[in-house]
Amino acid sequence: MTNQTVRGTKDLLFDEWYKFKYIQQIANRISSLYGFLPAQTPIFEYTEVFMKTLGDGSDIINKEMYTFYDKGGKSITLRPEFTAAIVRLLVEKKLQIPIKLFSTGPAFRYERPQKGRQRQFHQINFEVFGVENPKADIELISLAQHLLTKFNINKNVRLEINSLGDSETIAKYREVLIPYFKKFQNDLSEDSQNRLTKNPLRILDSKDEKDKLIISDAPKISDYYTRESLDFFEQVLNGLTALNIPCTVNSKLVRGLDYYCHTVFEFVIEDFGAQGAVFAGGRYDNLVSSVGGKYTPAIGFAGGIERIMELIDYSMKGDRPLCLVPIGKEAEEHALTLANELRRNGLYVIYEYNGALKNRMKKASQANAKAALIFGNEELGSKTLKIKNMDTGEEKVIAYGNMMENIHQTLLV
Ligand code: HAM
Repeated sequence: MTNQTVRGTKDLLFDEWYKFKYIQQIANRISSLYGFLPAQTPIFEYTEVFMKTLGDGSDIINKEMYTFYDKGGKSITLRPEFTAAIVRLLVEKKLQIPIKLFSTGPAFRYERPQKGRQRQFHQINFEVFGVENPKADIELISLAQHLLTKFNINKNVRLEINSLGDSETIAKYREVLIPYFKKFQNDLSEDSQNRLTKNPLRILDSKDEKDKLIISDAPKISDYYTRESLDFFEQVLNGLTALNIPCTVNSKLVRGLDYYCHTVFEFVIEDFGAQGAVFAGGRYDNLVSSVGGKYTPAIGFAGGIERIMELIDYSMKGDRPLCLVPIGKEAEEHALTLANELRRNGLYVIYEYNGALKNRMKKASQANAKAALIFGNEELGSKTLKIKNMDTGEEKVIAYGNMMENIHQTLLV
């Protein structure tokens, strides 16, 4: 047996776990300010759920899915993202639209692990269904920016945005893009050659240096927008300006999944290099109908919790305990009863099962206790306790009867 985590997965301990939960809590709270409702789907789905939606030109489908047959012979896939699963939920449960759904949890992709990229990672995921109006795009991007501000990481982040237009735009653009890339077919990287017929738009996203040279002269999608597409994009850009959200239009931003149309966006962090996005998403008006649901315009984005963790300073201040210091056998016998009472009143209490006074006080300061509660035969007899503020050294005798009030007073000093 190897005592090691699987490559690309991580244990989360103590402060890291607090940080992780903090990110989920903030996302949850902000999601509710914008009217999102919580939705959790299972971690695995029938493989079809992803096969039918993410597109056979996507890296996820081609090389990254954790797919296996269960004991009943059904093909099952660990979710590589939430959107496809949430669409499955919307259609299966016939949810009333418009609706906004927030989810969080693990996702799985067989990628080469590196900083900010894991095989089991976690997302916070936001989807808005049933709104055609570009205001939904603006509001969602503003939510993403709100989150970044809350995490205090908005300074190093750049919002890149593009529009893929409607189906007509994409079809017209493909017609010019394919012949353009075909001229350079032999010079393109192997990945890009494979994409040439399946999804030529994805070539624009290539990180290969030779591809980049070819891409720099490629036709631009903005020259092929229909009037409606251009109008939609302009409304989104104007709306962002009105909200003071700076962005850069990147005409090569196409995103790695096939379901997008109109608005696509990424909040990019320079530090992360090639996989620089902390939040990413876009519009996918035709996805729900393509899996058998009613026509439902939709837009969403997801953020990687591990990437946010890399970027935020968060130190758990950690509750400081109250340390019990019993002196003598009788007091030691009484310590558990007292600890029980205090804990049931909501206090964080520690104590050693045995030991001399000096050692116990040493342990109290090592544990950064806020106060020590000292009691021996004398205190037991007079139904009192001695409370010592560990920061000021000040000692006070308090009555057992109103100890909670006195402890709170001491702890607040
Ligand atoms: P995505 O760009 O594949 O989009 O992932 C969204 C975010 O998840 C990324 O920006 C990144 O922060 C995080 N992420 C992705 N892969 C990894 C990884 N291997 N390790 C760590 N973090 C990662 C989607 O997943 C779409 N479903 C987003 C969306 C929602 N579009 C519409 N609605």
